[in-house]
Formats: sequence, structure tokens, C-alpha cells
Amino acid sequence: MTATIKASQGAPFSRILAVGGERGSRVVDNAEMCTIIESSDEWIQQRTGIVERRWASDDQTPLSMTVNASRKAIERSGVDPAQIDAVLISTVSHMQQFPSLSVSVASELGLQNPAATDLSAACAGFCYALGLADSMIRTGSAKHVLVAGVEVLSRQTDFTDRGTAFLFGDGAGAVVVGPSQTPGIGPVVWGSETDTADIIWTEDWNEALESGTKPVIHMEGNKVFKWATTFIAEKTAEALDLAGLKPEDLDVFIPHQANNRITDSMLRRMKLPESVVVSRDIQQMGNSSAASIPIAMEALLEAGDARSGDTALVIGFGAGLVYAGQVVVLP
Ligand code: UT7
Repeated sequence: MTATIKASQGAPFSRILAVGGERGSRVVDNAEMCTIIESSDEWIQQRTGIVERRWASDDQTPLSMTVNASRKAIERSGVDPAQIDAVLISTVSHMQQFPSLSVSVASELGLQNPAATDLSAACAGFCYALGLADSMIRTGSAKHVLVAGVEVLSRQTDFTDRGTAFLFGDGAGAVVVGPSQTPGIGPVVWGSETDTADIIWTEDWNEALESGTKPVIHMEGNKVFKWATTFIAEKTAEALDLAGLKPEDLDVFIPHQANNRITDSMLRRMKLPESVVVSRDIQQMGNSSAASIPIAMEALLEAGDARSGDTALVIGFGAGLVYAGQVVVLP
């Protein structure tokens, strides 16, 4: 006899209920950066848009920053922390194999036995986790999911490499995702590329330890740039299309904050109207990988440049290579 398994069923839709962020508290402008590498304020601004970046101070860790960002998001959501039944954190900066950062964050926040696991999807990680949270809520495996992205890449940077050293910033961004009667998170477009592992990479820990060093970031910036402005621009348009929307339906565009020139190129390719508010948070933050999208989202809402209920397109892309994006309703 074949027994019938009872399957779970969740809410019809999900949405982001609130967002919170914490930036590294040390401001490093281009003038200071040029005391570390041979470069110029003009070159860095022209090539990337970065004016200054935020680095974690000594007392800021992936755990402390994620806890602070999450606390803000939970308080703003009005959700009782006891109702958060899953935690998904994307990071490549948690330097401990286990326990996962998600379990430690849940413990610090006093959450009650949530499902908790970390994701590794580099700069695409926030959108990966958001796609998973949406599926979990709609299939009934969770009701309220804390999703966060956190990075402290300044501690994994090769400061002798002037091709990457000026790029990165540190911070954490978190959202609470919960059930909704109307669609608040569109279908995710996600994927990975094969044979591209050597475009953005760090050394293997074992090899680094043997040579008495620690793994640092290496990147073939030009190759990533071309991939982002062609293939990723197409995938971004696909996310809009899958949500059943046209460029003119969009209020806000929050691409991963990798480079203002990549953002400009995407805007041109997608023919987004000028009325769309575009995040340029990289100017003050640098590239904070998995944290960049929620941090940028919070900044636009706090500045009044975007409003609750606006329709926003988000897309993350990076090491792997991997990518993920979707349309969301802003909290
Ligand atoms: O977040 C994950 C995804 N990552 C990205 O999306 C990053 C994508 N890539 C980029 O944003 C860009 O490739 C960079 C901003 C990293 C670099 O800009 P680029 O326009 O691709 O520069 P390049 O590497 O092609 O170098 C151009 C020139 C070279 O000189 P020559 O050979 O033309 O004489 C470099 O030596 O600029 C030189 N250069 C610099 N000059 C001043 C490279 N780095 C620097 C520097 N300051 N820091």
C-alpha cells in the first residue's frame, strides 16, 4: 500500500514587511584609499562612482552587524520575535565553519528555535535568500523569515592589489518576510555559470594556511563587468517580465551596488524610464556584496526617495558566477 504524505500549504503570497541595516562605522574616502594603493580620487570615481566606503571598526563583526540590522527590521515589522520561524543569512565573511552565523544571530536575538542556515552566494546572496523565503512561506514551511546579507570584505582584501582594494565596503542588511494576501515578491530569476570559478575567487583555506597567509579576494574585473552589462542585464529584464510588468510599471531599481557604470549600462539596455528611482548607494558605501541591496533599500526609504508600496526590481550577481533577482513591493 502506498501511503499518502500530507503536504504543507502556506500563504497565497509573501512580502517584505520591514528592512534594517548597519554600515561599517569607519568612513574611508578616496583620499585615504590613495594612501594605501596607487590611484586617484578621479580614477576611482570615474570607473566606479565610489566617493567613500564604509569599513567595519574593530568592534563590528558579521554577528554584531547582522544582529543590529535584524533588530531594526524586526522592530519595524511589528512581528513578535517569537513568530520568526526561519533565519536565512547570506555571507562569505563568517570565518567559522560552524555553528552557522544564522544560529548565532537567532540566539542573540532570542528567537525561539527557528530553522536557521547560512547561504553562500556572494553578491547574489540576498536575492537568493529572498527567493527561498518566498517559497518557504508559500509552501508553508515557515510563516516569518528573517533574511539577511552581511559582509566584512575589508578583512579579506588584498591591499597590494590596486585593481580590487578600493571597491569593497562592510555592512549588514536584513528584512523580515511574512505572509500576504497580495503578491509582494515576484518570481525569482536565478542561476549559475559554469567554468567561471576563476573570475572572482579566494584561495582555499588549507592552501592559504600552508603558505602562512589568509585567503583574499581576486577578481578579473573586466570579465565581470562585461558579463554584468550583457547577460545580467538580460536576466534583470527577465525578472521584470516574469512578474508581468513593463519598464514603465517600475518605481525603483536597486541593482547590486557593484559599479555605477554597470548600473548605467543596465538602465540603457533595459530602457527604464527616467521616472524610475535608481539606487546609487555605492557612492557612499562601496561594494558590500550580499549586504548591498537591503542596505540600499533602507537608504532609499529613509531618504524619502522611495516609498512603502513602491514596486522595485532587485538583482544580485557575483562570484561563482551566480545571479538572482526579482520584483518586490517595498516595505
Ligand atoms: O560584486 C561582485 C561583482 N563585481 C563587479 O561587478 C566588478 C566589476 N568590475 C568592475 O567594476 C571594474 O572592472 C573595475 C572597477 C574593478 C576596474 O575598472 P576597469 O575599467 O575594468 O579597469 P581595468 O582593470 O580595465 O584597468 C584599466 C586601467 C589599467 O591601466 P592601462 O593598462 O589601461 O594602462 C589599469 O592598470 O586602469 C588601471 N588601474 C588603475 N588606475 C588607477 C587599475 N586599477 C587602478 C586604480 N587606480 N585603482
